[in-house]
Amino acid sequence: MEVAASTGGGGAKTPDEVIAKHCNACHGTGLLGAPKIGDAAAWGERSKKEGGVDGLLAKAISGINSMPPKGTCADCSDPELKGAIEKMSGLK
Ligand code: HEC
Repeated sequence: MEVAASTGGGGAKTPDEVIAKHCNACHGTGLLGAPKIGDAAAWGERSKKEGGVDGLLAKAISGINSMPPKGTCADCSDPELKGAIEKMSGLK
C-alpha cells in the first residue's frame, strides 16, 4: 500500500540536498559572516543564544541580518530546514 507523502511528489528533501542547493553558498565558506558548516563552536554559541536548535530554526525561517528568510529555500518545510541546521551545526 502506498501512503501519500505529505510533501507530495518525491517526498522530503534530505539535509544534504537542502544544504548543497541552498545553504552551502554562504555557510560553506562563511560568506557575509555566516557560521561555517561543521564549526561546532560558532553554531554552539548561536544555539545557546537562541535557546537551542528550535530557536535557530525560528531565525532561519524569519531571516536574520544578511541571512535571507529560509536561507533562500522558499519551498523547504520546517523539518527540512531543521534537518539542514542540525547537519551543518552538528547539534541535535
Ligand atoms: C545568502 C547567504 C546565506 C544563505 C544562502 C544561507 N544563509 Fe544562513 N546565515 C547567513 C548569514 C550571513 C548568517 C549570520 C547572520 C547574522 O547573525 O548576522 C546566517 C545564519 C544562519 C543561522 C543562525 C541564526 C541565528 O539565530 O544565529 C541559521 C540557523 C542559518 N543561517 C540557517 C541556514 C539554512 C538552513 C540555510 C539553507 C536552507 C541557510 N542558512 C542559507 C547567510 C546565509
